[in-house]
Amino acid sequence: MENVKRYTVTAALPYTNGPVHIGHLAGCYLPSDIYARYLRLAGEDVLYICGSDEHGVAITIKAAQEGLTPQQLVDKYHNIIKNSFADFGISFDVYSRTSSPVHHKTASDFFKVMHDKGVFTKKTSSQFYDNETRQFLADRYISGTCPNCAYEKAYGDQCERCGKSLDPTDLINPKSTLTGNTPELRETSHWYLPLQTYEPWLKEWLLEKHNDWKTNVIGQCRSWLTQGLHERSITRDMDWGVKVPLPDAEGKVLYVWMDAPIGYISAAKEWAEATGNQWEPYWKNDDTKLVHFIGKDNIVFHCIIFPTMLKAHGDFILPDNVPANEFLNIEGDKISTSRNWAVWVHEYLQDFPGKQDVMRYVLTANAPETKDNDFSWKDFQAKNNNELAAILGNLVNRVSILTGKYYNGKIPARGVQTQAEAGLGQEVQAYPDKIGNLIRDYKFREAQQELMNLARVGNKYLTDNEPWKLVKTDEERTATVMHHSLQLLANLAILSDPFLPHTSIKLREALGLHGRQWNEAGTLQILQEGFEMGKIDILFDQIEDAAIDAQIEKLHANRVQVETPVKINPFKADISFDDFSKMDLRIAHILEAEKIPKTQKLLKLTVDLGIEKRTIVSGIAEYFSPEEVVGRKVCIVANLAPRNIKGIQSQGMVLMVEDAQGKLMFLQSDGEAPAGAEAR
Ligand code: 2FM
Ligand code: ZN
Repeated sequence: MENVKRYTVTAALPYTNGPVHIGHLAGCYLPSDIYARYLRLAGEDVLYICGSDEHGVAITIKAAQEGLTPQQLVDKYHNIIKNSFADFGISFDVYSRTSSPVHHKTASDFFKVMHDKGVFTKKTSSQFYDNETRQFLADRYISGTCPNCAYEKAYGDQCERCGKSLDPTDLINPKSTLTGNTPELRETSHWYLPLQTYEPWLKEWLLEKHNDWKTNVIGQCRSWLTQGLHERSITRDMDWGVKVPLPDAEGKVLYVWMDAPIGYISAAKEWAEATGNQWEPYWKNDDTKLVHFIGKDNIVFHCIIFPTMLKAHGDFILPDNVPANEFLNIEGDKISTSRNWAVWVHEYLQDFPGKQDVMRYVLTANAPETKDNDFSWKDFQAKNNNELAAILGNLVNRVSILTGKYYNGKIPARGVQTQAEAGLGQEVQAYPDKIGNLIRDYKFREAQQELMNLARVGNKYLTDNEPWKLVKTDEERTATVMHHSLQLLANLAILSDPFLPHTSIKLREALGLHGRQWNEAGTLQILQEGFEMGKIDILFDQIEDAAIDAQIEKLHANRVQVETPVKINPFKADISFDDFSKMDLRIAHILEAEKIPKTQKLLKLTVDLGIEKRTIVSGIAEYFSPEEVVGRKVCIVANLAPRNIKGIQSQGMVLMVEDAQGKLMFLQSDGEAPAGAEAR
């Protein structure tokens, strides 16, 4: 997009049925914050928007569980979430909420315009109704026996044991979860968005005009479009939500995914009202670049459904990019709120006060930009101690201590530049553009790595020139080296702002750099000679093992055990005992393991079978690191004909079991079976 005059940057509106965890930060809020902070510093006109997503069945269910009204529930979590974001330095221009009057009006008007244009179809269907509470039941309010696996507590939309998607009428013996009564089928009317009508337009808009979007995003869009789009119902029988603004729609509200993205527009209105600005240019002008930051579970809504709504409505611009991230795992396991496998942001802030930038750094360094990625507490500790403290913190500390000692904190004279300073100047010059361009390309991990590289450049300059030795022999040269080291710190003060805003503020304050813009970095002439710098406390303390062990323990102690869902496949046809005896199943001791380069899933294993050693290629690398599997005794098929996989002869196959989410586990013997022992 050329001639961009302003940016509207949105971050997915979080559901207010619980607090936010670090997966949310890594997936959406940190990248969007880095982007918005950078653009502002680069002098762009930016409106950075978010707010709470407060409607939907998940909210009413959670409210009932907590003994609160839906409004009380969303008030509670809206405040927790809003404060977590503020503490973390997420720099929204506005953090709104969808239960606000301005949003109800905006969403209602939006629906009405589409309705009056004849976009929707209206259809009648039979749905379950609870006579006692006199209401139609959302899918999650109906439970019964799964027709697929006979699990007795399957929900109307999905069986949590076998994972099968269901329609409420598929359930055997359905019951209302509100009263336990058997619900009756009653006719009800709803409005539908005929996505299939927009399919040709979507194909052109997405696959031709936006095929430069991130591959994980465009790949999902392509798959939706190839499967073919269908109409989607966009209203529900409920009383919590935005009322359908039509005369014949008593007791009906907009489906939560219909109203939530309109919340981005409502938030802009709220911002405009509060600040006396105009909101329209940010949503209506073609020279505005609209960018939605989301996690991968929201791709269809932001790339297909919301754009269709915007297009059908007609008054608004369409997104220019949707740089969705993949998911963050914790200690190798999927984040799960129901199993309480998460690091909650508000708890982190209590446990590690003042260390917002450490978590920001670690999450950006591990950002799941192109594939799912892992957060582990040991890595968190290592990144703090070996990178933030050892590289950035150490540089700042050395320079500020020496400046205090030699010059009472005043920036010394520049003196005569040598080749060392010329070289340093050349290096520094490249960084603002290098980092800025990576940010504009949504490559936040790499951008942050470059920031650390700049700190490395500073450390090297200092170590090469050794002012602590020079000071004994050459005062003038010492001053020159210290002057340039301080100028490098000034660059870091400005360029660290998008990534490490709390650190940036400390540096800016000490160096008097408030309000300095991105393009003022890149030179060694930012600071004035004679300026007295403020004191800078240690930026990053060492994080000790005890603090990390406590977090790992807390994670495991709070984990809620739930029945592991099993993927049920139909049984295979009978085989004879002879058929079975043809299989040679053995215990294999894994001696060595390594990742096969350029593959995601494959590990090369060397196993001991008692009488010989073999090589086996196994597709388990997404679930197990080489270190985790060495030493295990596992079960293999020893007489599977050798196969060539990625140029390696695989002589056997490791047996694995899988849960409903596709997580792999080894089949192991109970007790110490010797390597080579046969299974029968
Ligand atoms: O997945 C979620 O958390 C949703 N609440 C995101 C909504 S984004 C937008 F459309 F409002
Ligand atoms: Zn089932």
